[in-house]
Amino acid sequence: MCGIFAYVGEEQAAPILMEGLSALEYRGYDSAGLCVGGRCVRSVGAVEQLRARLGDTMLAGKSGIAHLRWATHGEPSEQNAHPHADCGQHVFVVHNGIIENFRELREKLAAAGHRFASETDSEVLARLIEAHRRAGADLEQAVCLALKDVRGTYGLAVSCAEEPGTIIAARMGAPIVVGMGERAHFVASDPSPILAHTKHVLYLEDGEVAVLTAKAHRVFSLDGTKVSRDVETIEWGVEQIQKSGFDHFMLKEIMEEPDVIENTIRGRLIPGQGRAKLGGLDSVAERLAKVKRIVVVGCGTAFYAGQVGEYMLEEFAGIPVEVEVGSEFRYRTPILEEGTMLLAISQSGETADTLEAIREAKRQGALTIGIVNTVGSTIARETDAGIYNHAGPEIGVASTKAFISQLTALALLTLFLGRQRTMSEAVGKRIANELLALPLKLEHILLQHDELCALALRYKDARDFLYIGRKYNYATAFEGALKLKEVSYLHAEGCGAGEMKHGPLAMIDKNFPTFAIALQDSVYEKMRSNIQEIKARRGPVVALATEGDTGLADLADDVVFVPPTLEMLSPILAVVPLQLFAYYISVARGLNVDRPRNLAKSVTVE
Ligand code: AGP
Ligand code: GLU
Repeated sequence: MCGIFAYVGEEQAAPILMEGLSALEYRGYDSAGLCVGGRCVRSVGAVEQLRARLGDTMLAGKSGIAHLRWATHGEPSEQNAHPHADCGQHVFVVHNGIIENFRELREKLAAAGHRFASETDSEVLARLIEAHRRAGADLEQAVCLALKDVRGTYGLAVSCAEEPGTIIAARMGAPIVVGMGERAHFVASDPSPILAHTKHVLYLEDGEVAVLTAKAHRVFSLDGTKVSRDVETIEWGVEQIQKSGFDHFMLKEIMEEPDVIENTIRGRLIPGQGRAKLGGLDSVAERLAKVKRIVVVGCGTAFYAGQVGEYMLEEFAGIPVEVEVGSEFRYRTPILEEGTMLLAISQSGETADTLEAIREAKRQGALTIGIVNTVGSTIARETDAGIYNHAGPEIGVASTKAFISQLTALALLTLFLGRQRTMSEAVGKRIANELLALPLKLEHILLQHDELCALALRYKDARDFLYIGRKYNYATAFEGALKLKEVSYLHAEGCGAGEMKHGPLAMIDKNFPTFAIALQDSVYEKMRSNIQEIKARRGPVVALATEGDTGLADLADDVVFVPPTLEMLSPILAVVPLQLFAYYISVARGLNVDRPRNLAKSVTVE
C-alpha cells in the first residue's frame, strides 16, 4: 500500500499536501513526491527527505497531488518516486496498487514512441492518459479510457497542468476517500490527512471515478453512469484511522491476511495448467531447472517459514533442502557444491545475519534467490533473483501477515520448481486451486476472533506455554511460541511433538499448558497420542483441529477449529489462531503489542 493525497481549493496546495503526507507516513516510506502547478519534487525516503528536497522551492498553485511510496515494481529511487508524468509533463499521476498488465502496455507505448523515465508499473497510467489525449479525448475521457486499458488494482489521483482547477480520482481495489471541504476537495488513501480540514468524506467504490474542483464534485462509474454517494462524517481520530479502526497494527495486519494471500498470488498462478508464473525468476529459470539442492536461510519467523518450505519443496519439487538460521549459517563452513541454490527469506530485506549468508553463498558461486517483502532492499538487490511478497508494509514488530505471504510465496516456488520437474499437472492444479481458495478460508478463521480473545483471557496468567506440532506444522508450533513470547514476554517454546517423550514431557503439569496442532492430516493419530500423554500428566491442552473433527473435544480442554486444506498449505491457516491468541494475551496483559520491549522490526546488526 502507499499514501496518496491530493487537494484542489482556494489555498496554496504545497503546504497542505506536505502536512497531509506526514499523516500518511505509516503507509509507505520508500520515497515521496508532490506535483503542484505542473512542477514535481520527489525524493527517496520519507516525508522529511521530501521536505528537505523541497527546501525553499516555491510550488505555486491551488491544486496538487502527493504520494508516499511502498514500492512493488522498481526499487525505491527518485526516478521511481511518484508522481509520474507523461512525455510532455502535462499529466501527472500518483498511484497505489499494482498494474498487472504493465509490461505489455509499456511495450505498446514504447513502440508508439513513449520514452519511459522509471521502472515502475504506475508510469504506464500517465502515458496511457497522454496517448488518449493525443487521440482527441479530453482529460476526463482520457483517464477513463486509460483505466479501461489496465488490469490490476489502483487508487489514483491525476492532475493536469492545463486544467489546474481539476483533480481526478479513481478506485479499483485500493482505497480512495474524497474529503468534502467548504471551498476545497481532497483525495486520500485514508481519511488521516483529510481530518485536519474536514470530517465529511465520501468513499469511492471499485470502478468509480471522481472529478473534483474547489467547489464541485462529480462521481460516476467507468461506463459513465452517474453515482450519488452519501457523505459520511468521520468520528475517529487520526491514530485510529491509520490502524483502519483496529486497536493495534498487529491486529490490523492479521486481519489483512486474506488480502495478503490474494496480493501474493495475484498474476502468478495459471490454474488451468497447474503452474506458477514468477516474473522475478525469469532471468534464472534455466539455472533453477538444474538446481539439485536448496539451502534456505532466514531468521526468526522467516526461518520458520523456511522450515515449512523445506517440507513443501522436498515433497512436491523433489529437491533436497536444508534450512539454517542466518546467525549460524555464517559460522559454519558450508559446502555449496555445483547445483546448490541459496533461498533467503526476509520481510525487511535488511537482516544482517541473512545478508551475510547470501554473501557467503555468492562467494561460493551459488545461485541466490530471495523471498522479500521490501522492494529494493539490500537482500532484494544482492540476490540474483527473487519473489516479492507484495504484503504491504508490516508495521507491527511481530511478523504476522509477512509469514502468511512467505508461506504462500514458498508454495508458488514449489509449484514453479515442481512443474519444471516431475510434478504432474493434476497435482499442480490441486495446489493452484487450493491457493485460490485460501483467502476465504482464512477469512473464516478471522471470524472466530472473539472466541480466541476469550481463550486468551483464560490462559493470560500462564507462566509457561508449550507449542507442539509435527511435519508441516512442526515449524508452525515454533512460530506460535515465538509470537507468544515476543508480544507477551511469557516463556513459550515450540517442540516437535515427537520429541516430547525425549525430555520436554517432564515439564508438563497442571500449570504448564500446551497448544497442540492436531489437524486431520498424515500425522493426526500421532498428535492425538501426544495429547493423551499430556492429559495423563494433567497438563492443560488447547487443540488446534480441523473443522468437523469431533474427536478432540473429549480429550483437550479447549479446541480451536480451522477449515480443511491441503496438508502442505495447512500452516497458512493453522498459524492464524496462534497469532490472534498471542495478540489477545499481550493486550490482556496491558503490553505494547506493536512495539514489544527489547525488539526491533528489522535486525540490521549481527
Ligand atoms: C518475528 O515476529 C520477528 N519480528 C523476527 O523474528 C523477524 O522475523 C526476524 O528478525 C527476521 O526479520 P526479516 O524477515 O525482516 O529478515
Ligand atoms: N506499484 C506502484 C509502484 O511500485 C505503487 C506501489 C504503491 O502502492 O505504493 O510504484
